[in-house]
Amino acid sequence: MSAPFDRLLCGLRAATLADDAGYGLIEDAAIGIRDGRIVYIGPQANLTAEQRQSAREIELFDSALATPALIDCHTHLVFGGNRAREFEMRLNGASYTEIAQAGGGILSTVRATREASEEQLLTAALPRARALMRDGVATIEIKSGYGLDADTELRMLRVARRVGEVLGISVRTTLLAAHALPPEYAGRADDYIEHVCREILPAAHSAGLVDAVDAFCEGIGFSPEQTRRVFDAASALGLPVKLHADQLSNLGGAALVADYGGLSADHIEYTDEAAVARMAERGTVAVLLPGAFLCLRETQLPPIDALRHHRVPMAVSTDLNPGTSPLMSLRLAMNLACTLFRLTPEEALRGATVNAAKALGLADRGRLAEGMRADIAVWGVTEPAELSYWMGAELLQAVQVARLRAD
Ligand code: NIG
Ligand code: FE
Repeated sequence: MSAPFDRLLCGLRAATLADDAGYGLIEDAAIGIRDGRIVYIGPQANLTAEQRQSAREIELFDSALATPALIDCHTHLVFGGNRAREFEMRLNGASYTEIAQAGGGILSTVRATREASEEQLLTAALPRARALMRDGVATIEIKSGYGLDADTELRMLRVARRVGEVLGISVRTTLLAAHALPPEYAGRADDYIEHVCREILPAAHSAGLVDAVDAFCEGIGFSPEQTRRVFDAASALGLPVKLHADQLSNLGGAALVADYGGLSADHIEYTDEAAVARMAERGTVAVLLPGAFLCLRETQLPPIDALRHHRVPMAVSTDLNPGTSPLMSLRLAMNLACTLFRLTPEEALRGATVNAAKALGLADRGRLAEGMRADIAVWGVTEPAELSYWMGAELLQAVQVARLRAD
């Protein structure tokens, strides 16, 4: 007798995304789960009577759509305060620069984050993560980057890990200490980068808090040379890298992170075709962030056709942060990727599942297939395109999140 299922989900229309193209639809599908993994996915009719009877628990659905649980691969959801007041000031005529000169902008979030205790940061972060979960998200990447000193950066990463523990979802943590120049290092960016490489990164790494390392390579962030220093330090510790690249100008960030074999180049509105070709060669994923594009009222579109042409996997994420993307819905990010960037709904769904998993270096999720984690979202719709089409409704009907011993 074959080993029993812990759980059997029946009566599904499954969009497996199992192959490189198409939704991989299975009609009248069943999914058998054992020890947190999918051990059967296929037509219900192919299950033997023995398999059916073996299930400890059976859940019946009425042709509901099943997809891999969604993955938000780029967020900054741990932070103190918020910037709603600045949003209001901008709409009343103040410029972004005036606000920044008056001590606002990203540094106002740094101040509020430094002042917040671990408990306060956790209390503020949990509802944001819960909002993402209402869209079937079961894996979230969370960055530091509003501490900019060792104490606060580590506090942010600890809070991020606790979000995962409290909510029973996977959280991947990314150190983004090279996000902005802290006020105490004004005029001394190279010294701050030295501090990041010699103090903050090793401390966060030895505390076991870093899954990847990110930086903001931009005129208002750090130069390519400074970014390389951070990446060299990360590589020396065996940590993968990713980059906020070419968001407001083309400093060659996407090519740079590809040169390091980085996991992803994120934003990439100004990336040119040669850099896209380099990303393809090195397997670097393009992470598209239409929420920031919308809120900054950007006009320069990311090079979608070149990404398609060179077969660079495209991920879609919220970039949830208090400054440029206060967006708490990954489904809405998928809709914006379609309406603003002209992704197809299939590309948007791949972007929030299989390609988002690639952007995090995770091979065990993002598709529905035997052997994969049993992270499954079940929706009250029938067409996969509906996930990108509807704006603002709660479509999620059920979610199954694997709890594995290794988590
Ligand atoms: O991903 N681009 C840099 N960092 C964030 C925004 C940070 C902020 O304004 O608080 C982003 O857009
Ligand atoms: Fe970001």
